[in-house]
Amino acid sequence: MRRACAGLAVSAMVALAGLTSPSVAHAQPPQTTAITLPQPGGQGQVAIEVALAQRRSVRSFATGPLSAAEASHLLWAAQGITGADGLRTAPSAGATFPLVLYLVAGRIEGIPAGLYRYAPQGHRLLAVGRTDLRVAIAAAARGQTWMQDAPALVLIAAQPGRTAARYGPRADRYVAMEAGAAAQNLLLQAVSLGLGATLVGAFDESALGPILALPEGEQVMAIIPVGRPR
Ligand SMILES: Cc1cc2nc3c(=O)[nH]c(=O)nc-3n(C[C@H](O)[C@H](O)[C@H](O)COP(=O)(O)O)c2cc1C
Repeated sequence: MRRACAGLAVSAMVALAGLTSPSVAHAQPPQTTAITLPQPGGQGQVAIEVALAQRRSVRSFATGPLSAAEASHLLWAAQGITGADGLRTAPSAGATFPLVLYLVAGRIEGIPAGLYRYAPQGHRLLAVGRTDLRVAIAAAARGQTWMQDAPALVLIAAQPGRTAARYGPRADRYVAMEAGAAAQNLLLQAVSLGLGATLVGAFDESALGPILALPEGEQVMAIIPVGRPR
């Protein structure tokens, strides 16, 4: 794995504009608060072959927090921009980029608990709400309560309409492929950082919808609880 933790001691900066604080409902977008994530950089010591060999689903987490740098790397691995042309770490059919990542922060140093939308442009988090949604999301994931003990959940959502506008009925297949590619990037990055994660597909979309209040046309494809293995 090429990039890992080096040079990431910088803490997240809350760049503000207004600081309104949405409390419970997450009618999007009140995204008035942005957190600029530490830049991912440096080179990890874990070869891609080692990360592949070591990856296992992890469902039991230590009680400590993640760092903002770790959260930064995980999001970057899944959807970070890696070229001046806006291309990303994961492939995208026709570069339509239907994926949208959300970070459900529970215990992350320098990032208040809440729901954030990841903006690849600028490598920023846009605050959606300040409620810790982990328990509610675990309940919507068919009662997989182990998820709520992870310090963070990454939701891979998608706007299939972006891809369907070009590819029509093939879009569902393409978007699922993209979600899988982004998820595997994140899972391998987690290993590289000494973290553990699980790809969760068992959730009830109708229960998740009201919790997240996603914008029209967005749907959750996967949930990835992540933390330090216990
Ligand atoms: C599409 C998909 C959905 C999954 N959903 C869940 C899930 O809801 N809960 C869970 O604990 N694990 C889930 N998993 C993880 C699998 O249970 C796990 O990958 C499998 O047991 C193999 O173990 P490993 O990941 O440690 O190699 C899912 C995996 C995939 C690929």
